[in-house]
Amino acid sequence: MQALHLWTLLATYAVAVGQNQGQKNQECPKLNAQMPEFQKKTVHIKDPGRVEEIICGLIKGGAAKLQIITDFDMTLSRFSYNGKRCPTCHNIIDNSKLITEECRKKLLQLKETYYAIEIDPTLTIEEKYPYMVEWYNKSHALLIEQGLQKDKFAEVVRESDVMLKEGYENFFDKLSEHNIPVFIFSAGIGDILEEVIHQAGVYHPNVKVVSNFMDFDENGILKGFKGELIHVYNKHDGALKNTEYFKQLKDNSNIILLGDSQGDLSMADGVANVEHILKIGYLNDKVDELLEKYMDSYDIVLVKDESLEVANSILQKIL
Ligand code: TMP
Ligand code: MG
Repeated sequence: MQALHLWTLLATYAVAVGQNQGQKNQECPKLNAQMPEFQKKTVHIKDPGRVEEIICGLIKGGAAKLQIITDFDMTLSRFSYNGKRCPTCHNIIDNSKLITEECRKKLLQLKETYYAIEIDPTLTIEEKYPYMVEWYNKSHALLIEQGLQKDKFAEVVRESDVMLKEGYENFFDKLSEHNIPVFIFSAGIGDILEEVIHQAGVYHPNVKVVSNFMDFDENGILKGFKGELIHVYNKHDGALKNTEYFKQLKDNSNIILLGDSQGDLSMADGVANVEHILKIGYLNDKVDELLEKYMDSYDIVLVKDESLEVANSILQKIL
């Protein structure tokens, strides 16, 4: 009787171990074998073993522990489509009929000068920082001079060439379905960004936007910008100003961070309790000069990749 009991116990244990091991294998996928999206030529990873470990940690934490922190321009939105550059939030206004030809020329000149600095591989973030402040101040002053009307933004966005990355519906819908917090942290223009995701039908209640929001007078005419400026290289400060948001999410200690700039790497600096963080970086421009730097700082680098396929494949395993 006792022997039978012992045998039953052992058998139960063996089955449990077997199930556990089976589950573990399923839970911790090998990148190339079980996640074919990682075989794409656009995917560059310095340490695949580490990425597998992080993904494994994210899978084990499941929906309850997950949060997304993402940049917007050139990360959620496309860098180019059919060989043609797509606009940033700022460019949507720059290219619109709301701006005089003279102002458009000035904004384009600013972009030529300062975008070159933004992506210059020979300058450090500290060296670029003051130039970014200069760019934003000059560009925002020009927009204010134009007396932009808020009620024209929906039309301007609809008529623009802005496009979200391939697979955005799946990305946003899945995250919304599982109520995963999504923090969009952008040095673009919040009012335009919100209009873009609203028109795309993905501004779900789980999405929070932190960006440069415009301030309008009682007639809906732009008179300034609210709060402190967020530019490409001060996201660390912005992140620390949002500690209240991150405090509420103290149990969401697993993070997927998506960005396209070296400045985006500090977007999660306000998170108090980080268990696992997976950093996915889009590298769109100056690829030869910047690839090594990006591979050193982002866990996964996606070169000239206009899709959210890799992120979606990871979400598929977690959720
Ligand atoms: P992001 O943080 O969502 O990527 O938005 C910032 C981008 O906006 C960054 O790449 C610089 C760009 N930008 C313009 O395109 N035009 C401008 O006038 C300014 C100030 C910034
Ligand atoms: Mg960006």
